[in-house]
Amino acid sequence: MLPSIVKIYEVGPRDGLQNEKQLVPADVKITLIEKLADAGLRHIESASFVSPKWVPQMADAAAVMTGIKRREGVSYPALVPNEKGMAGALASGVGEVAVFAAASESFSSKNINCSIAESLQRFVPVIEMARGAGIAVRGYVSCVAGCPYEGAVAPDAVADVARSLYDMGCYEISLGDTIGVGTPNIIGDMLRAVSEKVPLSALALHCHDTYGQALVNIYKGLEMGIGVIDSSVAGLGGCPYAKGASGNVATEDVLYMLHGMGIETGVDIKKLIDAAWYIAGHLDRKPSSKVAHALAP
Ligand code: HMG
Ligand code: MG
Repeated sequence: MLPSIVKIYEVGPRDGLQNEKQLVPADVKITLIEKLADAGLRHIESASFVSPKWVPQMADAAAVMTGIKRREGVSYPALVPNEKGMAGALASGVGEVAVFAAASESFSSKNINCSIAESLQRFVPVIEMARGAGIAVRGYVSCVAGCPYEGAVAPDAVADVARSLYDMGCYEISLGDTIGVGTPNIIGDMLRAVSEKVPLSALALHCHDTYGQALVNIYKGLEMGIGVIDSSVAGLGGCPYAKGASGNVATEDVLYMLHGMGIETGVDIKKLIDAAWYIAGHLDRKPSSKVAHALAP
């Protein structure tokens, strides 16, 4: 059975813009985030406090996080990889953070320069700092449907990392098909394995649309009891580790599908599409989603 309400967790300003070649000025990011909040989004991942050498696109995280006019009822999480990132996030008044691990050793080492076990160890003090500051922590697992270096990833490997993050205190675990290789059966097998170790109500699905499979995979997830979907306005992004990769599934494509099935999101699709054209304009291109074109302002 499908849910009647779905929580949309917008990742465009972070996951999308971290993967755009062009650097986007902080004031444009801030305007984008405010447009997304105007459209009714209540969870907007806005920046990441990672090494600027690794991800120069996020070097202005502090300026973005201190520049946004926070609204009641809207959460603006930031990604943090370690204690240094957490300290930066706290100094910028961040109210929620996300830590990120992977289900594949090679991806973990390329993305955060450590093994999966070391990454989980690194998160212990990060989560303690968050707890001390009274802020919530979300957890990501990457490569849940495949890894750019290792190929297929075992569903049990995903389930183990998800369970570890959950046990450490992450309130929600987002399952990332980082390179968009999943198809519905792969996603189904993975969700079955994970839901044996983490309650479905604490799981989110995070699909990249590299192979055009994101919507059908999301539909599969919804049928299996997933109620939280990560998506990115205008389908922003790409993936430095996957050839020809497109970004996350576009928020407007997800909204069109959900609203068309009578599922509520609380998001105004017209305003969201305005935001998609706004940021695409700053990147000198058009939004990558079909819906942004079909409903162009
Ligand atoms: P490292 O080089 O192993 O770190 O990187 P280190 O501890 O050895 O420190 C090296 C230098 O980095 C030092 O500076 C540190 O101070 C600095 P130096 O002395 O050389 O001048 N440093 C930092 N600077 C700013 N902020 C920090 C920080 N930490 C250390 N937080 C590290 C390890 C984790 C830092 C690095 O690998 C990194 O930043 N990786 C981030 C990669 C990233 O952001 N990837 C994208 C996000 S994950 C994702 O998109 C997937 C997701 O969407 C889900 C999905 O799709 O599957 C979430
Ligand atoms: Mg991602």
